[in-house]
Amino acid sequence: MRKQIVAANWKMNGSSELVRQLVPAVRDSVASLDNAVEVVIMPPSLFASEAKGELAGSPVMLGVQNVARWQSGAYTGELSAAMAADIGCHYALVGHSERRQLFGETDDIAAEKVLRVLESGLAVMLCVGETLEEREAGDAEAVVCRQVEIALSGLDSAAADRVVVAYEPVWAIGTGRTATAEDAQAMHRTLRDRLSDMGLPANEMSLLYGGSVKPDNAGALFAQPDIDGGLIGGASLKADDFIAICQAAV
Ligand code: G3P
Repeated sequence: MRKQIVAANWKMNGSSELVRQLVPAVRDSVASLDNAVEVVIMPPSLFASEAKGELAGSPVMLGVQNVARWQSGAYTGELSAAMAADIGCHYALVGHSERRQLFGETDDIAAEKVLRVLESGLAVMLCVGETLEEREAGDAEAVVCRQVEIALSGLDSAAADRVVVAYEPVWAIGTGRTATAEDAQAMHRTLRDRLSDMGLPANEMSLLYGGSVKPDNAGALFAQPDIDGGLIGGASLKADDFIAICQAAV
């Protein structure tokens, strides 16, 4: 179901102390938003259970930043979607550009992970986005559409209500160089059209923008007709900034 969503991707940052400080601050502030926006916190997986404890009784949801291609077995160091579901997570990120660039996650691997996430009863937040070189070559739409087509190629449309797509132009991640609201909207429109062409209920799916979202640009981005919220990196580690971004999504 299409809804406003703001998700915090802490990446490889934080500590037990940050969980004890930041998670309650977000939890208590979100209570005043009357569920107008779905808020998700994705700490490093080692802190997921502690964060879950801080979120007891709160509508704020918990997520993991990555899962394995398998549900269990001899895969040292990996964690599975089934395990994330077991500890009470609701979401799993798949295909983040840092997984693609640094850890060799291909579109086909992303497709396998999407299926593992959905099999486990979780919702998937699929990340897609072009590099600066691809944008400058005029290939941005083709790249993003290819990523979403392959990653969702095995999707049963009945599960589409548990699929969120996050458009994160790689050149905007962590750079302070945010896409303009107009450029982001244009890509979101292209994505929604492509999802529809794939036979999915595109108008009922949430499409998020990620890439240097801050309190001072969130309002313009989230006001766009095809942007249903954001996937937040750096700003999610600061309570006031992240709460301000959540409020901008209402
Ligand atoms: O997954 C969200 C992240 O990639 C965006 O990072 O720091 O540009 O908000 P940031």
